[in-house]
Order: sequence, then C-alpha cells, then structure tokens
Amino acid sequence: MSRLAARRIVLKLRALSALHRRKLRVVLSGGRTPVRTYQLLATEYLTDLDWDAVHLYQMDEYVDPGRPKQDFCYFLTEFVVRPLGMRTASLLDRTTVQAGAGGWAQAIRRHERRLVEAGGIDLALHGIGTNGHLGFNEPGSGPHTEGRLVSLSDSTRQSARMAPVPTEAVTLGMRVFLNAKESILLASGREKAAAVAAAVLGPASDDCPASWLCWTGRVTVIVDDTAASGLVR
Ligand code: GLP
Repeated sequence: MSRLAARRIVLKLRALSALHRRKLRVVLSGGRTPVRTYQLLATEYLTDLDWDAVHLYQMDEYVDPGRPKQDFCYFLTEFVVRPLGMRTASLLDRTTVQAGAGGWAQAIRRHERRLVEAGGIDLALHGIGTNGHLGFNEPGSGPHTEGRLVSLSDSTRQSARMAPVPTEAVTLGMRVFLNAKESILLASGREKAAAVAAAVLGPASDDCPASWLCWTGRVTVIVDDTAASGLVR
C-alpha cells in the first residue's frame, strides 16, 4: 500500500511538473498512515523527482499538542522536508503563530489564502479519520467550508493517542481540498473500514467529509485489506 502510494505520488508529480513547468503545491497528511510512504519517498524514490520543485503546504495542526514534538509541523519537518531536501515549505510553526496577531484562527486563514492565491493544491495526500474526517474537517463539514479553527470530536481526540488529549485544531477547509487537481486517500486498518466504505460508496454527505473527496472523481483511494473490508458486499 505504501509503495503504491509512493509510486503514485512520484508519477503524478512528474506528470504535473511536465505539464505546468513550475513549482508544484503539495499538501501531505501529518497522520501515522503515510509514514512508510514518506520513508520510501526519501529512500527509493529520492532521485526520481526534483523535490526542490515541490512547495509543501501544511494540511492541519493541533492547537495545543501538550508536549513538544507531538505536532504535525515537527512530524512533516522530520519525515518529509528534511529527508527529501525540500527548500520550500509553508508550515504552521507554533512559535511564529503564537507571536503573530490573531493567533491560530488568523494563521490558518492566512495560510489557506496564500495557497489559494498561489493557485490551489496540485496534489494532496490524505488520510481519513475513523469518523470520516478529512484534515480536521470533522463530520458536519460541508464542501464549501474554509480553513478554520475547529473543536475536535471525541473519536478524533481518542485517535490522537496523545497525552494531554488535544481539544482544538486548525485545518485547511473542504473547498480547497475538493479543488485539488489530484488527491490520494490512504487508509489502513479495520478501524478505518466504516469510514472508507462511507467515503467510497457514498452518497456524498457532510456526515462523512471524505465522501465529498470521492465525489469529485479526482481521487485515487489506496487501502489495505482490512480498511477495504467494508467495501465487499
Ligand atoms: C488526523 C489528521 C488527518 C489524518 C487522519 C488520520 O487526525 N488530522 O490529516 O489524515 O487524522 O490519521 P492517521 O493516519 O494517524 O490514522
């Protein structure tokens, strides 16, 4: 699954690069699911792409991860930016956000506005929450939602497996995700089966935000056997 995802990312980015001949705007999940994919990109696929031609934009972030090094900014720096030698990354750096006017709520709006003004997402790699969330767009998030500060649902708090348990986060909105040129949705494990089934089989509904992504028709869904178990009728 991870190998397929890594190969697909490289092939898609090469195609987009040949087509557009400019920096590509890429959004990558900070969840646990793509860790192996990122490791493969940084080893077996390192020389298959000019990673300097990629501008990484952070997808989402915990407002208060409790302890240092539990946030997605740190994770993306360690697993993606540094190993791939990327020189352009727009990350939601905690110190900068907290020092800036308007805190997290303004920071995520500015972050999303910059991404949209630059032309939006070329490629996004998503995970999926057990409740069907996309980024931190929790159930109830419609297709037009924008980047914002959100309260996390109980299931998302539990899935975070962090102490202290985070309660708030910021996320890019559904609109910018749904306008991406290409998306990949990656899921593994039985606990994701119901969300994957709701996303893939539809109908598209705010109850399962990931279902809106499948509805666009511009997403490749890559799942392991257990996450796919709800797709078998
Ligand atoms: C997290 C993130 C998402 C991620 C999803 C799945 O909370 N907000 O961006 O895709 O939930 O995470 P994991 O891959 O760790 O299961």
